[in-house]
Amino acid sequence: TAPVITIDGPSGSGKGTLSRLVAERLGWHWLDSGALYRLVALAALRRGMALDDVAAVAELARNLDVRFEVDGQGAPVIVLDGAPVGGELRTEQAGNAASRVAALQPVRDALLDRQRAFRQAPGLVADGRDMGTVVFSDAPLKVFLTASCEERARRRYKQLKEQGLSANLHALSEELAERDRRDAERSVAPLKPADDAVVLDSTHLDIESVLEQVLRLAEE
Ligand code: C5P
Repeated sequence: TAPVITIDGPSGSGKGTLSRLVAERLGWHWLDSGALYRLVALAALRRGMALDDVAAVAELARNLDVRFEVDGQGAPVIVLDGAPVGGELRTEQAGNAASRVAALQPVRDALLDRQRAFRQAPGLVADGRDMGTVVFSDAPLKVFLTASCEERARRRYKQLKEQGLSANLHALSEELAERDRRDAERSVAPLKPADDAVVLDSTHLDIESVLEQVLRLAEE
């Protein structure tokens, strides 16, 4: 089987950017597992489902019609139910809805095979919360990326602004804290580093130096 590098951590830790860059530098595939949970939540909301309707949401997750493609410029495009999804997927509302459906074990089970199918030659960089603990627990390199809550809120704020989305730093910081709490305290796949994960704190580091550290670890 192809090698995997898992990059887990709380929202806003920079793992999305980091994992994309690591995949780019190595020429490996990239899995943004958070996008899958966001897509399930979005599809459920569009169908008017209650996010705690376990059976219905799990069934939806099993049959989710989604394709990960690249556009003419090589930028990733996600196609849900036949139509491209835009910034809607990246809003805090989508993130919060995702964390609610992600707390349901049958939904997580429904997404397992879909996530593992991304493991293809020459390798995969997998970004999420439970990549190292559950989905790819045999990965030879596991990274757990953290940063202080304030720093993560600041980064998220900047990111949303850059995407032209409206954002309020204070509200964002409270939403992040709430989502972290839900992700860490849930009984299924709680957010925590795998026993054999390398924990990196990016609070005072820029993305380039974290990237170099991970690439060095990947060479070992
Ligand atoms: O990483 P992102 O912010 O896109 O993830 C959205 C939500 O999806 C997280 O707050 C978390 O609850 C859930 N998630 C998860 N397991 C993953 C990835 C995301 O539970 N592997």
